Amino acid sequence: MQNLNQFQETFESYLRENEFVNTPKELYEPANYILSLGGKRLRPAVLLAGHYLFDDHVEDSLPAAFAVEVFHNFSLVHDDIMDAAPLRRGKPTVHIKFGLNAGILSGDVMLVHAYEALSKTKSPRLLDLIKSFNRMAIQVCQGQQMDMNFETQIVVTIPSYLKMIELKTAVLVACALEIGALIGGAPKEDARGLYEFGRNLGLAFQLQDDILDAFGDPKKFGKKPGGDIAQNKKTFLYLKALEVAPTELAERLAALFSSEAKDEAEKIDAVLEIYNQLDIKNLTEKTKEEYWQNSLQALKSVNAHQDRKLLLERFATALMNRDF
Ligand code: IPE
Ligand code: IPE
Ligand code: MG
Ligand code: MG
Ligand code: MG
Repeated sequence: MQNLNQFQETFESYLRENEFVNTPKELYEPANYILSLGGKRLRPAVLLAGHYLFDDHVEDSLPAAFAVEVFHNFSLVHDDIMDAAPLRRGKPTVHIKFGLNAGILSGDVMLVHAYEALSKTKSPRLLDLIKSFNRMAIQVCQGQQMDMNFETQIVVTIPSYLKMIELKTAVLVACALEIGALIGGAPKEDARGLYEFGRNLGLAFQLQDDILDAFGDPKKFGKKPGGDIAQNKKTFLYLKALEVAPTELAERLAALFSSEAKDEAEKIDAVLEIYNQLDIKNLTEKTKEEYWQNSLQALKSVNAHQDRKLLLERFATALMNRDF
Protein backbone atom coordinates (compact mmCIF):
# COMPACT_ATOMS: atom_id res chain seq x y z
CA MET A 1 0.00 0.00 0.00
CA GLN A 2 1.26 3.48 -0.97
CA ASN A 3 -0.97 5.74 1.09
CA LEU A 4 -4.17 5.89 3.08
CA ASN A 5 -6.42 6.66 0.07
CA GLN A 6 -7.45 3.05 -0.03
CA PHE A 7 -8.73 3.26 3.56
CA GLN A 8 -10.53 6.48 2.76
CA GLU A 9 -12.23 4.80 -0.22
CA THR A 10 -13.18 1.73 1.81
CA PHE A 11 -14.64 4.02 4.41
CA GLU A 12 -16.47 6.11 1.82
CA SER A 13 -18.31 3.08 0.44
CA TYR A 14 -19.13 1.85 3.95
CA LEU A 15 -20.58 5.28 4.68
CA ARG A 16 -22.70 5.22 1.52
CA GLU A 17 -24.02 1.76 2.38
CA ASN A 18 -24.90 2.98 5.85
CA GLU A 19 -26.68 6.18 4.89
CA PHE A 20 -29.54 6.86 7.30
CA VAL A 21 -32.84 5.55 5.95
CA ASN A 22 -34.77 6.12 9.18
CA THR A 23 -37.73 8.42 9.62
CA PRO A 24 -38.86 11.12 10.06
CA LYS A 25 -36.92 12.43 7.10
CA GLU A 26 -36.67 15.91 8.69
CA LEU A 27 -34.48 14.32 11.37
CA TYR A 28 -32.21 12.34 9.07
CA GLU A 29 -31.92 14.50 5.95
CA PRO A 30 -29.60 17.00 7.67
CA ALA A 31 -27.45 14.12 8.95
CA ASN A 32 -27.11 12.60 5.49
CA TYR A 33 -26.51 16.06 4.06
CA ILE A 34 -23.57 16.93 6.30
CA LEU A 35 -22.05 13.45 5.95
CA SER A 36 -22.36 13.58 2.16
CA LEU A 37 -20.40 16.84 1.92
CA GLY A 38 -17.21 14.88 2.38
CA GLY A 39 -14.39 16.55 4.22
CA LYS A 40 -11.00 14.99 4.70
CA ARG A 41 -12.21 11.83 6.50
CA LEU A 42 -9.15 12.24 8.65
CA ARG A 43 -10.47 10.49 11.75
CA PRO A 44 -11.75 7.28 10.11
CA ALA A 45 -8.59 7.12 7.98
CA VAL A 46 -6.27 7.21 10.97
CA LEU A 47 -8.49 4.83 12.92
CA LEU A 48 -8.17 2.23 10.16
CA ALA A 49 -4.46 2.94 9.84
CA GLY A 50 -4.08 2.45 13.60
CA HIS A 51 -5.70 -0.95 13.25
CA TYR A 52 -3.53 -1.83 10.24
CA LEU A 53 -0.35 -1.32 12.27
CA PHE A 54 -1.24 -4.49 14.17
CA ASP A 55 -3.55 -6.55 12.01
CA ASP A 56 -4.71 -6.92 8.38
CA HIS A 57 -8.46 -7.19 9.00
CA VAL A 58 -9.20 -3.47 9.03
CA GLU A 59 -12.82 -4.13 8.02
CA ASP A 60 -13.42 -5.08 11.67
CA SER A 61 -12.83 -1.42 12.50
CA LEU A 62 -15.33 0.03 10.01
CA PRO A 63 -18.21 0.44 12.52
CA ALA A 64 -15.82 2.27 14.87
CA ALA A 65 -14.54 4.42 11.99
CA PHE A 66 -18.17 5.25 11.18
CA ALA A 67 -18.72 6.12 14.84
CA VAL A 68 -15.86 8.63 14.97
CA GLU A 69 -16.84 10.29 11.68
CA VAL A 70 -20.52 10.55 12.69
CA PHE A 71 -19.45 11.93 16.08
CA HIS A 72 -17.19 14.45 14.34
CA ASN A 73 -20.01 15.54 12.03
CA PHE A 74 -22.42 15.85 14.96
CA SER A 75 -19.89 18.11 16.66
CA LEU A 76 -19.57 20.23 13.50
CA VAL A 77 -23.35 20.70 13.19
CA HIS A 78 -23.54 21.99 16.77
CA ASP A 79 -20.25 23.90 16.44
CA ASP A 80 -21.60 25.78 13.43
CA ILE A 81 -24.65 26.83 15.44
CA MET A 82 -22.42 27.96 18.31
CA ASP A 83 -20.03 29.80 15.96
CA ALA A 84 -22.83 31.28 13.82
CA ALA A 85 -21.05 29.84 10.78
CA PRO A 86 -22.83 30.06 7.42
CA LEU A 87 -20.52 27.79 5.42
CA ARG A 88 -19.08 24.31 5.87
CA ARG A 89 -17.20 22.34 3.23
CA GLY A 90 -18.13 25.04 0.73
CA LYS A 91 -21.87 24.56 1.33
CA PRO A 92 -24.50 26.11 3.63
CA THR A 93 -24.29 24.82 7.19
CA VAL A 94 -27.06 22.58 8.50
CA HIS A 95 -28.79 25.22 10.62
CA ILE A 96 -28.80 27.66 7.70
CA LYS A 97 -30.17 25.10 5.27
CA PHE A 98 -32.61 23.24 7.54
CA GLY A 99 -33.12 25.58 10.50
CA LEU A 100 -31.86 25.76 14.05
CA ASN A 101 -34.10 23.07 15.52
CA ALA A 102 -33.13 20.60 12.81
CA GLY A 103 -29.47 21.30 13.58
CA ILE A 104 -29.96 20.64 17.27
CA LEU A 105 -31.97 17.44 17.00
CA SER A 106 -30.17 15.92 14.01
CA GLY A 107 -26.93 16.54 15.84
CA ASP A 108 -28.31 14.81 18.93
CA VAL A 109 -29.45 11.75 17.03
CA MET A 110 -26.11 11.51 15.21
CA LEU A 111 -24.38 11.33 18.57
CA VAL A 112 -26.58 8.41 19.57
CA HIS A 113 -26.02 6.65 16.25
CA ALA A 114 -22.28 7.08 16.75
CA TYR A 115 -22.55 5.11 19.99
CA GLU A 116 -24.81 2.55 18.39
CA ALA A 117 -22.20 1.95 15.66
CA LEU A 118 -19.33 1.73 18.12
CA SER A 119 -21.21 -0.83 20.21
CA LYS A 120 -21.50 -3.09 17.13
CA THR A 121 -17.72 -3.56 17.07
CA LYS A 122 -16.75 -7.19 17.43
CA SER A 123 -13.87 -7.01 19.86
CA PRO A 124 -13.10 -8.52 23.26
CA ARG A 125 -12.05 -4.97 24.19
CA LEU A 126 -15.43 -3.36 23.51
CA LEU A 127 -15.66 -1.96 27.04
CA ASP A 128 -12.25 -0.28 26.66
CA LEU A 129 -13.38 1.23 23.36
CA ILE A 130 -16.52 2.63 24.94
CA LYS A 131 -14.55 4.00 27.90
CA SER A 132 -12.11 5.74 25.56
CA PHE A 133 -14.96 7.16 23.46
CA ASN A 134 -16.86 8.39 26.54
CA ARG A 135 -13.83 10.15 27.94
CA MET A 136 -13.18 11.77 24.57
CA ALA A 137 -16.79 12.89 24.08
CA ILE A 138 -16.91 14.55 27.51
CA GLN A 139 -13.59 16.30 26.83
CA VAL A 140 -14.81 17.63 23.47
CA CYS A 141 -17.79 19.26 25.21
CA GLN A 142 -15.47 20.72 27.87
CA GLY A 143 -13.21 22.12 25.14
CA GLN A 144 -16.14 23.58 23.25
CA GLN A 145 -17.36 25.35 26.40
CA MET A 146 -13.87 26.77 27.03
CA ASP A 147 -13.81 27.98 23.41
CA MET A 148 -17.11 29.81 23.97
CA ASN A 149 -15.95 31.21 27.33
CA PHE A 150 -12.82 32.62 25.68
CA GLU A 151 -14.87 34.75 23.26
CA THR A 152 -15.78 37.07 26.12
CA GLN A 153 -13.10 36.30 28.71
CA ILE A 154 -10.68 39.22 28.77
CA VAL A 155 -7.51 37.39 29.79
CA VAL A 156 -6.76 34.13 28.00
CA THR A 157 -3.29 32.63 28.30
CA ILE A 158 -1.55 30.62 25.60
CA PRO A 159 -1.36 27.53 27.87
CA SER A 160 -5.13 27.71 28.49
CA TYR A 161 -5.75 28.08 24.75
CA LEU A 162 -3.59 25.00 24.11
CA LYS A 163 -5.56 23.07 26.74
CA MET A 164 -8.79 24.16 25.06
CA ILE A 165 -7.75 22.90 21.61
CA GLU A 166 -6.43 19.68 23.11
CA LEU A 167 -9.93 19.08 24.43
CA LYS A 168 -12.07 20.31 21.54
CA THR A 169 -9.98 18.81 18.72
CA ALA A 170 -6.91 16.75 19.60
CA VAL A 171 -8.49 14.10 21.81
CA LEU A 172 -10.82 12.95 19.02
CA VAL A 173 -7.90 12.31 16.68
CA ALA A 174 -6.06 10.60 19.53
CA CYS A 175 -9.07 8.47 20.46
CA ALA A 176 -9.57 7.39 16.83
CA LEU A 177 -6.00 6.08 16.70
CA GLU A 178 -6.25 4.41 20.08
CA ILE A 179 -9.51 2.68 19.22
CA GLY A 180 -8.16 1.41 15.88
CA ALA A 181 -5.07 0.07 17.62
CA LEU A 182 -7.11 -1.63 20.36
CA ILE A 183 -9.41 -3.34 17.85
CA GLY A 184 -6.31 -4.40 15.90
CA GLY A 185 -5.00 -6.13 19.03
CA ALA A 186 -2.23 -3.70 19.96
CA PRO A 187 -0.52 -4.05 23.33
CA LYS A 188 -1.75 -1.36 25.76
CA GLU A 189 1.48 0.68 25.66
CA ASP A 190 1.43 0.85 21.86
CA ALA A 191 -2.21 1.95 21.86
CA ARG A 192 -1.12 4.64 24.34
CA GLY A 193 1.79 5.65 22.08
CA LEU A 194 -0.60 6.05 19.17
CA TYR A 195 -2.90 8.11 21.36
CA GLU A 196 0.05 10.45 22.03
CA PHE A 197 0.83 10.58 18.32
CA GLY A 198 -2.78 11.56 17.64
CA ARG A 199 -2.96 14.09 20.47
CA ASN A 200 0.07 15.98 19.24
CA LEU A 201 -1.02 15.68 15.63
CA GLY A 202 -4.45 17.01 16.61
CA LEU A 203 -2.90 20.02 18.35
CA ALA A 204 -0.83 20.81 15.24
CA PHE A 205 -3.93 20.21 13.12
CA GLN A 206 -6.02 22.76 15.05
CA LEU A 207 -3.21 25.34 14.82
CA GLN A 208 -3.28 24.81 11.04
CA ASP A 209 -7.08 25.23 11.12
CA ASP A 210 -6.63 28.57 12.94
CA ILE A 211 -4.03 29.67 10.36
CA LEU A 212 -6.28 28.72 7.45
CA ASP A 213 -9.27 30.47 9.01
CA ALA A 214 -7.32 33.74 8.80
CA PHE A 215 -5.05 33.21 5.81
CA GLY A 216 -6.56 30.37 3.78
CA ASP A 217 -8.07 30.55 0.31
CA PRO A 218 -11.83 30.60 0.99
CA LYS A 219 -12.55 28.58 -2.14
CA LYS A 220 -10.37 25.73 -0.93
CA PHE A 221 -10.98 26.03 2.82
CA GLY A 222 -14.78 25.91 2.49
CA LYS A 223 -15.55 28.09 5.52
CA LYS A 224 -16.31 31.78 5.82
CA PRO A 225 -13.00 33.67 5.58
CA GLY A 226 -12.01 35.43 8.79
CA GLY A 227 -14.79 33.66 10.70
CA ASP A 228 -12.68 33.37 13.85
CA ILE A 229 -11.88 37.09 13.80
CA ALA A 230 -15.53 37.97 13.22
CA GLN A 231 -16.50 35.84 16.25
CA ASN A 232 -13.77 37.28 18.50
CA LYS A 233 -12.14 33.85 18.78
CA LYS A 234 -9.01 34.12 20.88
CA THR A 235 -6.99 31.78 18.74
CA PHE A 236 -3.27 31.20 18.96
CA LEU A 237 -2.83 33.88 16.28
CA TYR A 238 -4.54 36.49 18.40
CA LEU A 239 -2.83 35.51 21.66
CA LYS A 240 0.61 35.42 20.04
CA ALA A 241 -0.03 38.84 18.50
CA LEU A 242 -0.89 40.27 21.93
CA GLU A 243 2.30 38.75 23.30
CA VAL A 244 4.69 40.16 20.70
CA ALA A 245 2.99 43.47 19.83
CA PRO A 246 4.19 46.79 21.26
CA THR A 247 1.72 48.11 23.87
CA GLU A 248 -0.18 50.48 21.61
CA LEU A 249 -0.71 47.92 18.87
CA ALA A 250 -1.71 45.27 21.41
CA GLU A 251 -4.31 47.65 22.81
CA ARG A 252 -5.69 48.33 19.34
CA LEU A 253 -5.96 44.62 18.65
CA ALA A 254 -7.67 43.94 21.99
CA ALA A 255 -10.13 46.76 21.29
CA LEU A 256 -10.98 45.23 17.90
CA PHE A 257 -11.83 41.96 19.68
CA SER A 258 -13.81 43.50 22.51
CA SER A 259 -16.96 44.57 20.71
CA GLU A 260 -19.37 43.84 17.91
CA ALA A 261 -17.90 45.34 14.77
CA LYS A 262 -19.93 47.94 12.89
CA ASP A 263 -18.30 46.80 9.69
CA GLU A 264 -17.19 43.17 9.84
CA ALA A 265 -15.06 43.18 6.68
CA GLU A 266 -13.24 46.26 7.91
CA LYS A 267 -12.54 44.60 11.26
CA ILE A 268 -11.18 41.45 9.59
CA ASP A 269 -8.88 43.53 7.37
CA ALA A 270 -7.62 45.55 10.31
CA VAL A 271 -6.83 42.41 12.33
CA LEU A 272 -5.14 40.69 9.39
CA GLU A 273 -2.99 43.75 8.85
CA ILE A 274 -1.80 43.56 12.45
CA TYR A 275 -1.15 39.80 12.14
CA ASN A 276 0.90 40.41 8.99
CA GLN A 277 2.85 43.23 10.55
CA LEU A 278 3.83 40.93 13.43
CA ASP A 279 4.58 37.88 11.24
CA ILE A 280 1.98 35.89 13.19
CA LYS A 281 1.53 33.23 10.54
CA ASN A 282 5.17 32.16 10.83
CA LEU A 283 5.15 32.34 14.61
CA THR A 284 2.12 30.03 14.67
CA GLU A 285 3.76 27.68 12.17
CA LYS A 286 6.69 27.38 14.57
CA THR A 287 4.53 26.11 17.42
CA LYS A 288 2.67 23.83 15.03
CA GLU A 289 6.03 22.38 13.99
CA GLU A 290 6.90 21.64 17.63
CA TYR A 291 3.74 19.57 18.06
CA TRP A 292 4.40 17.88 14.76
CA GLN A 293 7.86 16.84 15.96
CA ASN A 294 6.36 15.55 19.22
CA SER A 295 3.88 13.47 17.28
CA LEU A 296 6.64 11.91 15.16
CA GLN A 297 8.54 11.10 18.33
CA ALA A 298 5.48 9.34 19.76
CA LEU A 299 5.00 7.35 16.57
CA LYS A 300 8.63 6.20 16.73
CA SER A 301 7.98 4.68 20.17
CA VAL A 302 5.20 2.47 18.79
CA ASN A 303 6.26 -1.09 18.16
CA ALA A 304 4.90 -1.88 14.71
CA HIS A 305 5.90 -2.50 11.13
CA GLN A 306 8.04 0.40 9.81
CA ASP A 307 6.32 0.45 6.39
CA ARG A 308 2.92 0.70 7.98
CA LYS A 309 4.01 3.46 10.33
CA LEU A 310 5.31 5.31 7.29
CA LEU A 311 1.79 5.36 5.84
CA LEU A 312 0.59 7.25 8.90
CA GLU A 313 3.58 9.56 8.85
CA ARG A 314 3.02 10.48 5.19
CA PHE A 315 -0.68 11.06 5.72
CA ALA A 316 0.05 13.28 8.70
CA THR A 317 2.70 15.22 6.74
CA ALA A 318 0.16 15.98 4.02
CA LEU A 319 -2.29 17.16 6.69
CA MET A 320 0.27 19.54 8.14
CA ASN A 321 0.76 21.17 4.75
CA ARG A 322 -2.89 21.21 3.75
CA ASP A 323 -4.71 24.25 2.39
CA PHE A 324 -8.26 22.91 2.92
C1 IPE B 1 -12.93 20.68 11.39
O1 IPE B 1 -12.37 19.43 11.21
C2 IPE B 1 -13.03 20.95 12.84
C3 IPE B 1 -11.72 21.04 13.48
C4 IPE B 1 -11.42 20.28 14.48
C5 IPE B 1 -10.74 21.99 13.05
P1 IPE B 1 -11.83 18.96 9.80
O2 IPE B 1 -10.93 20.01 9.23
O3 IPE B 1 -11.26 17.60 9.94
O4 IPE B 1 -13.16 18.92 8.94
P2 IPE B 1 -13.56 18.02 7.70
O5 IPE B 1 -14.19 16.79 8.25
O6 IPE B 1 -12.32 17.72 6.89
O7 IPE B 1 -14.53 18.87 6.94
C1 IPE C 1 -14.11 22.85 16.10
O1 IPE C 1 -13.35 23.95 16.25
C2 IPE C 1 -14.05 21.88 17.22
C3 IPE C 1 -15.24 21.02 17.24
C4 IPE C 1 -16.17 20.98 16.31
C5 IPE C 1 -15.43 20.16 18.39
P1 IPE C 1 -13.59 25.12 15.21
O2 IPE C 1 -14.80 25.92 15.55
O3 IPE C 1 -12.30 25.85 15.02
O4 IPE C 1 -13.89 24.29 13.88
P2 IPE C 1 -14.28 24.90 12.49
O5 IPE C 1 -13.19 25.88 12.14
O6 IPE C 1 -15.60 25.56 12.65
O7 IPE C 1 -14.28 23.73 11.57
MG1 MG D 1 -16.42 26.51 14.21
MG1 MG E 1 -15.91 26.34 17.26
MG1 MG F 1 -11.65 26.70 13.04
